[in-house]
Amino acid sequence: MKINRPPSECIGAEILDVDVVSVMEAEINIIKQLVYDYKLVVFRDQNLNEDQYLEFARKIGTPQIYPQDNYHHPDYPEIFVSSNVPKDGKKFGVRGTGRYWHTDCAFLAEPLPFTMLYPQVLPSSIRETYYIDMQQVYKKLPSKLRSYVDEKYLVHEAKWRYKVQEWDIDRAVIDIMNDFEKKFPPVKHPAIITHPVTHEKILYMNQGFTTGIVGLNYETNQELLQELFSFIECEEHIHTHVWKDGDILLWENRTLNHKASIVPEGEKSVSYRIGLYDGLPFYVSSKRVKEQSEMPTK
Ligand SMILES: [Fe+2]
Repeated sequence: MKINRPPSECIGAEILDVDVVSVMEAEINIIKQLVYDYKLVVFRDQNLNEDQYLEFARKIGTPQIYPQDNYHHPDYPEIFVSSNVPKDGKKFGVRGTGRYWHTDCAFLAEPLPFTMLYPQVLPSSIRETYYIDMQQVYKKLPSKLRSYVDEKYLVHEAKWRYKVQEWDIDRAVIDIMNDFEKKFPPVKHPAIITHPVTHEKILYMNQGFTTGIVGLNYETNQELLQELFSFIECEEHIHTHVWKDGDILLWENRTLNHKASIVPEGEKSVSYRIGLYDGLPFYVSSKRVKEQSEMPTK
């Protein structure tokens, strides 16, 4: 296993010369530490079927069964399918997923720590996914913006991103949204989370799912959130992964916001995502970390 680490304060380690089907526990521990340290890991030149892909994912963590089953692979519910290509003449997964800044499942009380992504068909012209390291963003956050989020809680909700399905035809939008909201009610997370392994502080918010700062009215929220997102999404914060055939990506949702590129009209795209729990809390409270670091050492 050959590892290329990124320059300091950059994300993305590259792993070469490994067949992920046969990795052993010692290598898995190294891979997980690379994810915590560099947030994004790319495995090059892989050629796996669905069973092998799932087997590798299970060595890294516990696969999520995504809570909306229209995204599931028909034979492998752990595989979330993003696709604009039918399979066996039937609709396969969901097209055009994640084309806005977000972290996977931020709208759940227990968000998803890791995401693994393995494209099966890459579009011919644009083959990119974009990332922003929110740990670095927090470090660079101007004091005015920091005052908006320090010691605050943020509201996250998925309903504005719901994709209307065939069974919604003839239903009023308000009924569709109310039903969706019953299933996925808004959740609150601290604006600044502390990583359970690195103890780094991270600004945990994204344009896709974060809809408010707790305690503020709608107008003030719109104003402050847009100011924050303009800073977060500026060009210099964006890392672009350019996909090659055979790439598998593994990244951490605690620290990275991400966005899928558009698929130009007429081009095909099929990707297999597996969400993974790493057995750790998504974040620890800053207070607990502070208390631990202040405990007298013997
Ligand atoms: Fe995503």
